[in-house]
Amino acid sequence: MFMINVGVLGYGTVGSGVVEILKKNADLITQKSGKEINVKYVLDLREFEGDPVQSVLVHDFEIIKNDPEVNIVVETMGGLHPAYEFVKASLEAGKNVCTSNKALVEAFGPELIKIAREKNINFLFEAAVGGGIPIIRPIRDCLCQEDILEISGILNGTTNYILTEMTDKGAAFDDVLKDAQDKGYAEKDPTADVCGYDAARKIAILTSLSYGKTVKFEDVYTEGITEISAEDIVYAKKLDKKVKILGSAVKKDGGISISVMPYLLSKDHPLANIDGVYNSIMVVGNMLDDVVFTGQGAGKLPTASAVVADVVEAAKFLNENIYLEWEEEKLPLIPFEETKAQFFVRVKGNDFKASGFDVQNVPSEFEGETAFITSEITEKEFKAFKDSTEVINYIRLK
Ligand code: HSE
Repeated sequence: MFMINVGVLGYGTVGSGVVEILKKNADLITQKSGKEINVKYVLDLREFEGDPVQSVLVHDFEIIKNDPEVNIVVETMGGLHPAYEFVKASLEAGKNVCTSNKALVEAFGPELIKIAREKNINFLFEAAVGGGIPIIRPIRDCLCQEDILEISGILNGTTNYILTEMTDKGAAFDDVLKDAQDKGYAEKDPTADVCGYDAARKIAILTSLSYGKTVKFEDVYTEGITEISAEDIVYAKKLDKKVKILGSAVKKDGGISISVMPYLLSKDHPLANIDGVYNSIMVVGNMLDDVVFTGQGAGKLPTASAVVADVVEAAKFLNENIYLEWEEEKLPLIPFEETKAQFFVRVKGNDFKASGFDVQNVPSEFEGETAFITSEITEKEFKAFKDSTEVINYIRLK
């Protein structure tokens, strides 16, 4: 059987997981795919004395790039540089590339896809969004016949864990964050997760793939979960809803809006009961209606498993580009202030009366405040209201 040789760039959490899966499941991968896959090199700056990887360890990328026997490069280094330079050089040398690097895909996806197309090879990145959850390939292949009307996802395990703990324990954000950091579920610097930036990169990638044109991370209107309080969770429970932070792209009236923000979800919403560190992505197609993909969005083996799936696909289509539409051209988006939502709002004062839109009052749970749910209004209308009122907090409804 023709042997496929792989060079793995980076022997960190995901890279070592890839090597582990390719070794442990070698027989069944060969059996199911008809391909024998060999890890010929692992590139890392470090030494790994006592680890069998040492026998294939190299410290110079040029060795991998210049070896004609290497058919597939796996990039699990993370970061933009030198990952971008190595991936680009690999593609230009005619090697398929599989990466788990979300930042790389968000920043350089269309350029790398184009090089792969020109070289008749593949640039694959299943693990870059949703870790072990198959979502890139389903959007590219299984849903390509659909006009995608919505993608909404719990795209970040850290924030889903924090919101779940706040809901289950009635605890404050800061306390749960600290506990999550102690348990290793949140980074020391949790900004990218709790402020929604990580989810913004992921929804930007999913939206670009769904519509074939680029959405940049900075085009995504983003609100994190740092303002969600234990008091808000009390209201959520009274309203029989769950607070979840979603990355969403919605196609409505011919335009697409995109955001990351916390929502109050009805308990029967497909994403309402996805708890803990789990991720889940709902895609709504005009023919299919809704389909939901759920699983572990991070972690060594789930993420590495998605990378290995790409390696197997690259092995099957070694010299054939699998068409993937994602052009550099920007996807036109509806300006955020024109999008509409219903808001749950808490304002200071016992006898507050809203004007300018209809409201449905919610019994107040705390002294000195009024709570209500607005009719559907534009973000511009809500901002004008917020700027002229003592709003304690607000959460949109979905
Ligand atoms: N910090 C991310 C999360 C890891 O919590 O989901 C995966 O991107």
